[in-house]
Amino acid sequence: MILTVEPSRTGLRGDISPPGDKSISHRALIMASLAQGQSLLSGLLSSEDTLATLRACVQLGASSESVQGGLLVTGTGGKLTPTGNGVLDMGNSGTAMRLLAGVLSGQDFDTTLVGDDSLNSRPMTRIVDPLRLMGADITPSDEGTAPLLIRSCGGLRGINYVSPVASAQIKSCVLLAGLAATGVSSVEEPRLSRDHTERMLPLFGVELVSPRCVRGGSRLMASNFDVPGDISSAVFLLAAAAMVPGSEITIRRVGLNPTRTGFLQCMREMGAQLTVVPLVETPEPVGDVKLVFADRLKGIVVPESRVPDMIDELPLLMALAATGSGMTRIRGAGELRVKESDRIAVMATGLRKMGVNLQEYPDGMDIEGGTITGGSVNSAGDHRCAMSFALLGLRASSEVHIDAAQYIATSYPGFIDDMRAMGASMFTDTGT
Ligand code: S3P
Repeated sequence: MILTVEPSRTGLRGDISPPGDKSISHRALIMASLAQGQSLLSGLLSSEDTLATLRACVQLGASSESVQGGLLVTGTGGKLTPTGNGVLDMGNSGTAMRLLAGVLSGQDFDTTLVGDDSLNSRPMTRIVDPLRLMGADITPSDEGTAPLLIRSCGGLRGINYVSPVASAQIKSCVLLAGLAATGVSSVEEPRLSRDHTERMLPLFGVELVSPRCVRGGSRLMASNFDVPGDISSAVFLLAAAAMVPGSEITIRRVGLNPTRTGFLQCMREMGAQLTVVPLVETPEPVGDVKLVFADRLKGIVVPESRVPDMIDELPLLMALAATGSGMTRIRGAGELRVKESDRIAVMATGLRKMGVNLQEYPDGMDIEGGTITGGSVNSAGDHRCAMSFALLGLRASSEVHIDAAQYIATSYPGFIDDMRAMGASMFTDTGT
């Protein structure tokens, strides 16, 4: 699908509730499926990625029913039972694959986790290594990627894993595996990655030994859970408003977990006029965010320590920086090369095609703000790159066409509708 975006001549306006948080939705579905009893999950993200997790949970014995107020999930009480041939398709979702690999490594049956071409090329040794230290029988491909064959290993043992990468997927994989292991399992990471798993486990009845340490044999209990809006989706709306003069938008009920808000901090430093109104904090902080266009944003140096708090927002920051003035410097973000695409390479290629001056580095980019030209760019099937390029179309001198834009549905199926509701002119070659 090709998405066409026309330059925006008037300010964007809106009052929008973004879709449910993707990371939290995956975890809510997995925890509710492992729990004893029925959990009512409201505000869940319904996208390609979270549907992959839901389908896998149902294949493993959980059941779900859409009811008024959300999705009612009947958990397995921890006794997973595979149906079908034991092959679970994770689609494009690294979170689904890495978290479920942790859950499945301690089960007394065999499963195979498969993904699409993008997922099958992403590194899995980062979870295979700790799981093997726990005694798991898990085999990736010769390249260390999916498919992952997980065989019954007769029981896991707890470990303290010192992760070389600040990755919530590695951390969550080990902690979820640790629930079925003997002893305690804990994770240390170079910097705190998003901490949704640690915040949510206690809500589902698991008492943590310490913030990143679980006791083997802990049972999950059903819980109702209201998923906040996804800051990683909301930022596209905020960035669009920060690019187009005359814009003013309010985002409602969005998750403001400090391990996810690095992009908002960058926007403020670039000169954006943002107002945050905190609402609740149980167990995830939630609030409303308002942005009023103030001026063209200016370039900044992104502190490396902030990278984990905005890892998914860095392609968007590259795009935003290109529309501003001065240089923006991003380093310490080598992880971007192993996301749904090599996000540094894909963004560099697309931005250059739109006339942006930049310098690519192994772990980041220097982007010079300036004029954006129109044209055709390839999103490489990466949802966040596709949406980032789409925003550039609002500021370009002529139309921008984005290839493989159907992948936007990976995380934000309503993106085009929400942008149109704000006044953006976007249309697809499939008429949607
Ligand atoms: C996620 C963690 C991040 C992020 C991904 C979702 C999660 O990956 O990029 O989109 O839900 O745990 P890493 O943990 O590998 O950094």
